[in-house]
Amino acid sequence: MKDLLDSNLSHKESKPVPLTCSYILLPVYDFICSFFGFGKRFRKKVLDAVQIKNEDIILDVGCGTGLFLSVLKQEYPDVCAIGIDIDDKMLQIARRRLHRYPKLFLSIASGESLPIKENSVDYVFSTLVIHHIPDDVKRKVIYEMYCVLKQGGKLVLVDFGKTSNVWHRVLLYPIRKFEYLEGNLNGLVVNYVEEVGFKNIRISREKFLIDVIVAEK
Ligand SMILES: C[S@@+](CC[C@H](N)C(=O)[O-])C[C@H]1O[C@@H](n2cnc3c(N)ncnc32)[C@H](O)[C@@H]1O
Repeated sequence: MKDLLDSNLSHKESKPVPLTCSYILLPVYDFICSFFGFGKRFRKKVLDAVQIKNEDIILDVGCGTGLFLSVLKQEYPDVCAIGIDIDDKMLQIARRRLHRYPKLFLSIASGESLPIKENSVDYVFSTLVIHHIPDDVKRKVIYEMYCVLKQGGKLVLVDFGKTSNVWHRVLLYPIRKFEYLEGNLNGLVVNYVEEVGFKNIRISREKFLIDVIVAEK
């Protein structure tokens, strides 16, 4: 699987995007996910948005603590999976959780500069990451996802979607102070998915304002 990694790129060349999540919450990150309904059952639903085959190669951009990858490997033990994240503290938890799984590779890297060969993966998943990325960088990250996918490969992007409801915006005001939510709420994410070249774009709204976008290269 290592030959999928592009030796010309390394995380050192990636431009880190400053993270706003507090490390104080890191030990309880998985608990918070479950509390808000983003635990294993939700990850399974995201996985079921596409039909994975055992010979597929899967990339999880912003894999965090490895919650999604653990569900993936339990369901499809034979797939090759790569998780990348910009934050080594998140990756440390992922490494502890996932060390027993074969054909699974974790790497520190930015979504802005994926250290993966072009046209090499079957599916790119990314859950709750894009709202951590500044609006002017989101497009570049989505374009990188497009580049590494094989022709016909699929993107499954899960994040806050568009809303014009003023109460939603009021409710999210505290988060908007810390995260890059504005572009998501204005519908930028789907626009970028379309702009970079994805086709057959399907959007389903899941929990409160969370969209699952499935799109094909
Ligand atoms: C809210 S967590 C989601 C983690 C995981 N995808 C999940 O659903 O549990 C956001 C993750 O995105 C990562 N992240 C933020 N900016 C990134 C970037 N530019 N490239 C790669 N990962 C990034 C963070 O380090 C963090 O692990």
